[in-house]
Amino acid sequence: MVVNLRKIICTLGSHCSLQVLKGAKDEGFKTLLITEKKRYHVYSRFNFIDHVILVDKFRDILEPSIQNRLNELKSIFIPHGTLISSLSSDEIENINVPVFGNKFILRWEADRSLKQKLMVESKLQIPKAIKSKEEINDLCIVKLHGAAGGKGYFLASDKKGFEEGCNKLLNDNVITDENELYIQEYVKGVPVFLHFFYSPISGDIEFMGVDRRYESDIDGISRIPSKHQLNVEIEPTYNVVGNIPLVLRESLLEEVYQMGENFVRASKRLVPPGIPGPFCLEGVYTKEAKFITFEFSARIVAGTNLYMSGSQYANLLFENGMSMGRRIALEIKNGIYKRKLNTILT
Ligand SMILES: Nc1ncnc2c1ncn2[C@@H]1O[C@H](COP(=O)(O)OP(=O)(O)O)[C@@H](O)[C@H]1O
Ligand SMILES: [Mg+2]
Repeated sequence: MVVNLRKIICTLGSHCSLQVLKGAKDEGFKTLLITEKKRYHVYSRFNFIDHVILVDKFRDILEPSIQNRLNELKSIFIPHGTLISSLSSDEIENINVPVFGNKFILRWEADRSLKQKLMVESKLQIPKAIKSKEEINDLCIVKLHGAAGGKGYFLASDKKGFEEGCNKLLNDNVITDENELYIQEYVKGVPVFLHFFYSPISGDIEFMGVDRRYESDIDGISRIPSKHQLNVEIEPTYNVVGNIPLVLRESLLEEVYQMGENFVRASKRLVPPGIPGPFCLEGVYTKEAKFITFEFSARIVAGTNLYMSGSQYANLLFENGMSMGRRIALEIKNGIYKRKLNTILT
């Protein structure tokens, strides 16, 4: 039976748009891509994209004429990382098109103090904050506010190391004041990204997959023998190039679900309506197998692109390969059938 869903799933052409639109198509929706002209030659190759709106830059979706067109087509907009890096939190909240999930929680992802607050309220273990350079007595990571992909971050293990890194950023005009830096305990272990989906319609939390990132140049540094490392000045960067699949020791899953549940509960309390849809807890497993969360994403992450035909975990929950993008479309479909769309859109 073909059911007319009368909605179009739309997203920005970047990040995870192929997965999102393919998933929407597989669930029976029409699809729409908004993309920059220079990227169109990639997206023109895929026949699951029904409509395209070409823009000069992603920010053009702020134009009322574009938003009117999206509403005429009865679009539901799926937010992802490119939306967050293209628009401010105010601009995102003022988008006048139904957004899947809670657009208000995206501010909590973008703002370092709000982010911290939600992680603490979720009872997640987080890296220790170091109040001043005087208190550095172990390896620390020094972060900039609002930096993307760890650019400008540096490591320091004492006050002198901090001052060297700080002076470099001052000289390069990256910062104008030492206080713009934020010092955090460097968590020793392995970074892991946990993908969740929360369905307000079923009330369930689904653990959908896990990945690690392949980052340049931090992941390349180990390929340089130590005697050469010492001769060249390398300040590692964390620019994501791709993602690598992972499964967890099964005994870790209990805590994974616990963390997901706590996060869902805290976000309902702090940012109603909470976190309908995908989110990601991003942290480091220490050698004691403790998960220390350094940040979260309050929307689909690009690491889910690994599992376009279902992850090991999604395959335990769903019959046929269920990607995160398809899971979003399924939730919207259930929302339409059960007249509960208002619980999953903002
Ligand atoms: N406290 C920490 N301990 C160890 N590694 C960290 C810590 N914080 C961040 N990192 C590493 O730095 C990378 C970038 O940090 P993150 O806080 O995610 O910055 P951004 O907001 O730019 O994504 C992470 O992917 C992780 O590999
Ligand atoms: Mg990050």
